Amino acid sequence: MCGIVGYVGSQSALDVVMAGLKRLEYRGYDSAGVAVPADGGLAAAKRAGKLVNLEKELLERPLPSGSTGIGHTRWATHGGPTDANAHPHLDNAGRVAVVHNGIIENFAALRGELAGRGHDLVSETDTEVVAHLLAEEFSAGADLAEAMRLVCRRLEGAFTLVAVHADAPDVVVGARRNSPLVVGVGEGESFLASDVAAFIAHTRSAIELGQDQVVELRRDGVTVTGFDGSPAEVRSYHVDWDASAAEKGGYDYFMLKEIAEQPKAVADTLLGRIDAAGSLTLDEVRIGAAELRELDKVVIVACGTAFHAGLIAKYAIEHWTRLPCEVELASEFRYRDPILDPRSLVVAISQSGETMDTLMALRHAREQGSKVLAICNTNGSTIPRESDAVLYTHAGPEVAVASTKAFLTQLVACYLVALYLGQVRGTKWGDEIRAVIRDLSRISGAVERVLETMEPVRALARSLAGKKTVLFLGRHVGYPVALEGALKLKELAYMHAEGFAAGELKHGPIALIEEDLPVVVVVPSPRGRSVLHDKIVSNIQEIRARGARTIVIAEEGDDAVVPYADHLIRIPVTPTLLQPLVSTVPLQVFACELATARGNEVDQPRNLAKSVTVE
Ligand code: F6R
Repeated sequence: MCGIVGYVGSQSALDVVMAGLKRLEYRGYDSAGVAVPADGGLAAAKRAGKLVNLEKELLERPLPSGSTGIGHTRWATHGGPTDANAHPHLDNAGRVAVVHNGIIENFAALRGELAGRGHDLVSETDTEVVAHLLAEEFSAGADLAEAMRLVCRRLEGAFTLVAVHADAPDVVVGARRNSPLVVGVGEGESFLASDVAAFIAHTRSAIELGQDQVVELRRDGVTVTGFDGSPAEVRSYHVDWDASAAEKGGYDYFMLKEIAEQPKAVADTLLGRIDAAGSLTLDEVRIGAAELRELDKVVIVACGTAFHAGLIAKYAIEHWTRLPCEVELASEFRYRDPILDPRSLVVAISQSGETMDTLMALRHAREQGSKVLAICNTNGSTIPRESDAVLYTHAGPEVAVASTKAFLTQLVACYLVALYLGQVRGTKWGDEIRAVIRDLSRISGAVERVLETMEPVRALARSLAGKKTVLFLGRHVGYPVALEGALKLKELAYMHAEGFAAGELKHGPIALIEEDLPVVVVVPSPRGRSVLHDKIVSNIQEIRARGARTIVIAEEGDDAVVPYADHLIRIPVTPTLLQPLVSTVPLQVFACELATARGNEVDQPRNLAKSVTVE
């Protein structure tokens, strides 16, 4: 939540910062602002609404040019999305400017204290206190980095802060506690950003910042210290994707591009993880085989779409390893005093690696002595850093707020973890593992085939643009797919959408069925567990008898559903446990097209932000 950019170098800071904000706008789009130390003073501009409003403002009232600057795109927490609450926030003399991501929990006390010393705070934000406190420390003789350290020691909560001062025009200072901040190191220029996408066009050399660290950015390099001033160890890394990966590449929306990238994302996530003999080589899982054999349960924590991946993983883990697996919403986890010990393996799934609820859940698990394995898409982010091991998904940058390719790669990673546990614990024979791996390796092609047949799904979606409600039903792994389909529709089309386990229907939700209500049904494969299939075919008949318009997602060749499907969406024949990798795709396309038909912003749905860095 909130995108932050800082720059020091020889280019126009405003140009670099605005281009960076453009790439970070998916993190929040309630307001945007910039500040540039120039001509002995500090110039700033900010506007409520999307970045385009700030762009207009800068055209009407250009700022003086400078080669140091900061910028912010906001997802509002304290104070509505107004001009006054937009970042940057300045002190009363207008000499220091600060941008912030996170929540400063003790801001009310600090605000009272500052007011008592004659400061005039003009916004409703928690952030503004930082500008005033920094100004006080700077006036008392601290340089900007030291002022930041002193101020951070007084703050409670989660924060990334980035500041500039008119009297230190060649320096940008950043601080990090619990919210993301990465450093980019270029030739004679340095960058700070919430995510590498902001500076990837300039450098692919990055530095991770740790917890409670302050970074001082100058043209010729960066200095990192702890909040106490002690020199800090940092990890440098090379970003393995380039600027084009963060562009729309000819698609109207990032979401469309990301849906189309799924076959590759799935294949990339499998790459290098299977040896010539067909066994899994998950070197990243740095938890010893002996410890994995001792496990007595797996607990998955995640939020939103990642939680749905976890729900599907449960079926695979329990089936393949015979280990009990619980799946829990990260936001509920630590508050119910979960039973954990060193024999529990906690798997934290997160695309961004920054979701605060998931981070807090994994910290709680580690405090109880459990080992945590992260499944994550973002190198250098907090969740993998704080976990015992990480299995990276290789989806590439996911920019659209609604998660698509990250979900499919999370599923692949979950299957790999399940198979690996089976391999290490001996609950799966080598040839069984090889058979699943073979099926997984073919999935990328199956996803490709689904994508080639989506035109009727788009047409159907457009025809439903006037509807208020869509229901989703599934059984077994199709149930979390139904939940995911409903989530996609809610967030993109702003429609009432609910996912149900098809077997639950008769226990209440069937009362919702009325004439012409669209109900999407995800049908399990008729092969293998055909009892599931037969039961859902009955469920389709039950809802159709009550007037529902049935939209049936079923395997090629599944003829039993044909008489009861008002609309039939075919997916390739796939082993039951792996079916979500193909059955989810039409639901993504459906939601995206419905959103477009309803005139909604596909990549930036209202009220949402990409990484949820507050609890
Ligand atoms: C939905 C969506 C969210 C995220 C959730 C977790 O399309 O994107 O529900 O899945 O906020 O985010 P990560 O995976 O970054 O922890």
